[in-house]
Amino acid sequence: MSNPLRDPRDRRLPKVAGPCGLILFGVTGDLARKKIMPAIYDLANRGLLPPGFGLVGFARRQWDDEDFAQEVHDAVREYARTPFREEVWAQLSEGIRFVEGDIADPEAYRELRRVVEEVDQQRGTMGNHAFYLAIPPSLFPVVVENLKDSGLTERHGREWRRVVVEKPFGHNLASAQALDRVLSTAFTPDEIFRIDHYLGKETVQNILAVRFANTMFEPIWNANYVDNVQITQAEDIGVAGRAGYYDGIGAARYVIQNHLLQLLALTAMEEPLSFRPHEVRMEKEKVLSAVTLPSNISAHTARGQYAAGWQGGVPVKGFLEEAGIPPDSTTETFAAIRVTVDNRRWAGVPFYLRTGKRLGRRVTEVAVIFKRAPHLPFESASIGELSDNALVFRIQPDEGVTVRFGSKVPGTAGMDVRDVTMDFQYGDSFVDTSPEAYERLILDVLLGEPPLFPNSTEVDLSWAILDPVLDVWATQGQPEQYASGGWGPSCAYDMIARDGRVWRRP
Ligand code: BG6
Repeated sequence: MSNPLRDPRDRRLPKVAGPCGLILFGVTGDLARKKIMPAIYDLANRGLLPPGFGLVGFARRQWDDEDFAQEVHDAVREYARTPFREEVWAQLSEGIRFVEGDIADPEAYRELRRVVEEVDQQRGTMGNHAFYLAIPPSLFPVVVENLKDSGLTERHGREWRRVVVEKPFGHNLASAQALDRVLSTAFTPDEIFRIDHYLGKETVQNILAVRFANTMFEPIWNANYVDNVQITQAEDIGVAGRAGYYDGIGAARYVIQNHLLQLLALTAMEEPLSFRPHEVRMEKEKVLSAVTLPSNISAHTARGQYAAGWQGGVPVKGFLEEAGIPPDSTTETFAAIRVTVDNRRWAGVPFYLRTGKRLGRRVTEVAVIFKRAPHLPFESASIGELSDNALVFRIQPDEGVTVRFGSKVPGTAGMDVRDVTMDFQYGDSFVDTSPEAYERLILDVLLGEPPLFPNSTEVDLSWAILDPVLDVWATQGQPEQYASGGWGPSCAYDMIARDGRVWRRP
């Protein structure tokens, strides 16, 4: 990628994708409906797709092109970010095709190839296609095999083929490496785009901007000043609707292995030489290689399952009562781990990562919490309400950055000091609303720009961090139940209390 901080032309004007099409597997899933299809429309609406863009859906549904177009239409009407415009939809829908078939049936792929070639002719997609696998990773081998056998991965001249895979990429290190071997039989490393939608979020990219475009943060961004870092991804919803996908995978594989370790990498990495993909990835790889688990994994990790209760004034089911979840499921819906980054900058600073469903509210943040001042020349009663300085990247939903520090309480005779905050809010400082992460990422796939996609080394390093935790948890039976609407199981509070600290209330 060209450097967004030093090349204003790139920052102001997103590039428009050249002639191309997208072949979507998993069209009936939640992700396709809520994120992928709306993002495609939003890109079209912003004028960033080629006029002849083709979208080919593949699924075992008795649909024709019109039925599929109707599905896309409904998803767009419900979930698109930008306003619905008839003329945009009319142009986009002309390029929508559907192929009915079983994912393991070679005949269906022959039909898919015929349709893709027809789209090339009718829409001028010029043999440039991305295959988007919005399906469980266990199905990747059969799809890749069939794409190859049907000739769909052959390219001629300057045509391109790319593959987009959703996470979790495997369920441990060994399976992730096996998936890589499968994908590499048909695609080169540059043609494989592993989605971690957090990297497509503006607020996540902003971590690097704040750290490396300014003078005042980097000097204190180290173990001399930082006490601990807390990275939280909390959701208020449960798993209803995607229980089948969730059971057997759980919070750590769905969120810590990818989103939270990527947030850690961006927060802790050294300054890259430039923002070219391999320079950024090299720094992320270095920091992920330095991540170390505590020797007593049980004591410094926590997991839980949400129990039935009340949330937002309505009764909600417990995880084990959700349709499709076996009553003896050991899948965790809350996970927390403590790691350290064993290098000079971060020696001894704990990074706490936690994620969970049915927590107090939907919020994602990275909180860098600083040490107390070495000396406080105040009466202890005057600083009873002073906590630690903090810099918080508010990833969502209230996007921005908060700095917390102590300030004099006005009107008091003594020197009473209390916490105050200084806030930067995206909405106040910038006119444009942020594009959805999927818009940015799908556009990057079509443009062939890989910097926001983790490479296989990053994915492998992340599994290598998590695998020992998952192995320990696998011996521990059912996770602790926690109250819906709260902030997780008591073992999570115990885990951080062992270090003499408390979780931040986001
Ligand atoms: C997905 C996880 O990657 O991220 C889901 O698989 C989770 O379990 C989702 O709900 C959360 O995304 P966001 O952007 O709403 O934090």
